[in-house]
This record gives sequence, C-alpha cells and structure tokens, in this order.
Amino acid sequence: MKLIVAVDREWGIGYREKLLASVKEDLTHFRKLTEGKTIVYGSVTLRTFPNGRPLKDRINLILSTNPNLKPEGAVVLRSVEELIAYEKAHPDEDIVVVGGASVYKQLLPYCDAAYVTRFDASFEKDAYFPNLDDTPGWQCISVSETQYSNGATDTEDGMPYCFTEYRRVDA
Ligand SMILES: NC(=O)c1ccc[n+]([C@@H]2O[C@H](COP(=O)([O-])OP(=O)(O)OC[C@H]3O[C@@H](n4cnc5c(N)ncnc54)[C@H](OP(=O)(O)O)[C@@H]3O)[C@@H](O)[C@H]2O)c1
Repeated sequence: MKLIVAVDREWGIGYREKLLASVKEDLTHFRKLTEGKTIVYGSVTLRTFPNGRPLKDRINLILSTNPNLKPEGAVVLRSVEELIAYEKAHPDEDIVVVGGASVYKQLLPYCDAAYVTRFDASFEKDAYFPNLDDTPGWQCISVSETQYSNGATDTEDGMPYCFTEYRRVDA
C-alpha cells in the first residue's frame, strides 16, 4: 500500500474538515498518482470531495462504521481488517491511502511508500500527519525542485512547495 498527502511545515493536513490549501499543480499530481488505482479514505474525507461523492476513474474504498453510508460508486469497508482482506482478495490492485488523519495513522504501518507534498507555510490546523522525518523506518528518497503557488489558480500566491517521496527502509 502507498499513501499520498499534502502537509504544511508542521505536518498539518487539515482544518475544520477542509484542506489547508488548494494548489492546482498538487491536485494534478494527486490525480496522476491515483487515477486508475484503488483509493482508500475515511468518511470525513469523503465529505471533503466535490459534492461529497467518490472520485471518478478510481476504485473507491471508504472506511466507515456507519451502516447508513452507501454511496454510489464506492465500496464501504467496516474496519482495517476488512481492508486487509480486500487487499488480499485483489492482489492486482494498487491501493493508495488518501486520508484523512485517522486513516493515515492507522494505515501507515501497512504502507511502504509515501508521496508527500510539502507546503512551505504554516496554516491554522486541527489534523496532522505523523512527521516522517522523525519516524524510524522512513526515509526521504526524493525531493522535487521548489515550485511556487499561483494566486490565479490556487488559494495561496507565491507559497513555496515541493513534491517528496518517502520509502520504508526497514521492510
Ligand atoms: N492534506 C491532505 O492530503 C489531506 C487528505 C485527506 C484529508 N485531509 C484532511 O483530514 C481531515 C479529516 O481527517 P479525520 O481523521 O477527521 O477523518 P477521516 O480519517 O477522513 O475519517 C474518519 C472516519 O473514517 C471512519 N473510520 C476511520 N477508521 C476506521 C476504521 N478502522 N474502521 C471503520 N471506519 C473507520 C470513521 O467513520 P464513521 O464515523 O462513519 O464510522 C471515522 O469517523 C480533514 O481536515 C481533511 O481535509 C487532508
């Protein structure tokens, strides 16, 4: 399993059920790394998607204990154990964890790669991702050139950011 996340300087990822920043290039990066794959996420993150609907062109797995949640175009799984069983039953699918905080935390031990967009800014936040620089067993293996957000298409103007990749090194 792999994961993809966007973090600020303090590894914050969200505030009041919203992303910290919307950067068009980052959304494109997200799409490239998830399209045609299987994504897994929690029921709160589902509510942050456009119209609260599963994302198209991907198999959507939603973690939820809510028996009334039956969104069209998604499979609802009731536990991490059900997800692991799904993974075993679908060995050809590439599963990418896409949030949010509680799901990242539970599934990090099952992941061997993490695509982390680093926003070089500090936002108000109430949801965090574990700091992989301080997490034993994880190493940053690539960092893109610094890019800058553009106020014409993004929520921030001139914010430096980069795309990084972390790998599990103790596997
Ligand atoms: N920066 C990023 O890349 C990024 C990406 C995604 C999300 N986010 C942010 O993350 C925040 C949301 O994170 P969150 O932790 O509040 O919510 P979340 O992880 O998206 O969803 C939590 C919900 O998922 C379900 N769930 C979690 N673990 C489960 C398990 N083991 N079995 C069954 N169901 C399980 C539960 O739903 P039920 O209550 O329905 O049972 C739980 O309430 C938002 O601010 C969002 O914008 C940021």
